[in-house]
Amino acid sequence: MKPVIVSGLKPSGELHIGNYLGMLKQAVELQDSNKYRCFYFIADYHALTQRYNPKEKSEEIYRMAVDALAMGLDPKKSVIFIQSHVTEHANLTWILNTITPVGKLQGMIEYKEKLSEGQAPNTGLLDYPVLMAADILLYKAEFVPVGEDQRQHIELTREIARTFNDRFGGTFKEPKAVHTKSLRIMSLDNPLKKMSKSIPAGCLYLADSPKTIREKIKRAVTDSLTTIDYDPEKRPAISNLVLIYSEFSALSISKVVKNFKGIEYGKFKDDLADLIIKTLKPFQERRAKLIKNKQLVMKTLAEGDKSATLVAQKTMKEVAKKVGLI
Ligand code: TRP
Repeated sequence: MKPVIVSGLKPSGELHIGNYLGMLKQAVELQDSNKYRCFYFIADYHALTQRYNPKEKSEEIYRMAVDALAMGLDPKKSVIFIQSHVTEHANLTWILNTITPVGKLQGMIEYKEKLSEGQAPNTGLLDYPVLMAADILLYKAEFVPVGEDQRQHIELTREIARTFNDRFGGTFKEPKAVHTKSLRIMSLDNPLKKMSKSIPAGCLYLADSPKTIREKIKRAVTDSLTTIDYDPEKRPAISNLVLIYSEFSALSISKVVKNFKGIEYGKFKDDLADLIIKTLKPFQERRAKLIKNKQLVMKTLAEGDKSATLVAQKTMKEVAKKVGLI
């Protein structure tokens, strides 16, 4: 049996190139390596823990699924599904809640950060990491590709697995995090801030039209020097563009710097825009087709729901018996 990989994609707004170069690209590579049994899902329950508009949320969930498929997650190679359609995620969360100390959850970094940002401390927000543990343990995953910011959640998942095994007998594997390359793609109009949808002008969305991509790159801040170089400390703006070029071209940073020696910013930016437009084109074409074909997308997801449910039900049965349910 191949080792299992599980990862969740939380639908919260449009995807940008930082999301692509980090999490999604790696998810596709792991799938294509053919070495793992991959379960990828849209973490819609997780997305409800922050205030939202229901109509917009449905759109976001749907678009996230379309983006994942367009990006190359392939239902023939991976199980791709919607978290809330596999009810065992919530069921296992309940059982795991009963062995997780409240104090642990109150001490989680992400939870404290959200509170300090002024979010309401609803019980779902507090319980977020336990739902995540259930997502992972249901499939007895060995590896979990996640960003660095999720490290603590995987640690907690391991603790929960251990506690369960100690108390009720060996059931779960302790999963390991596979950290996605922590790429710091910075905002195009402020290289000291991370690229994010909260600064739209400096954010390059995967769905941006070629014209918009070209304009945003053209407007990207540089500096008063003229050479193309990589030195994130001293020259964050141009270094960010070099990093983006390197990631999209799969050339090393030093190779990019070498290739653009003596070339002026304007020409470099033109080339960078061409490269991004060309690389995103197949994705954008697949996306445009899928987004209109809701029937096909929903059917694909329903098949994923079914395969995931089979595995999840089996684990849940085992768990119910071990904890003494009849
Ligand atoms: N919390 C993760 C994030 O914000 C998303 C997620 C939910 C997840 N459940 C998961 C990731 C299970 C890996 C495994 O990115």
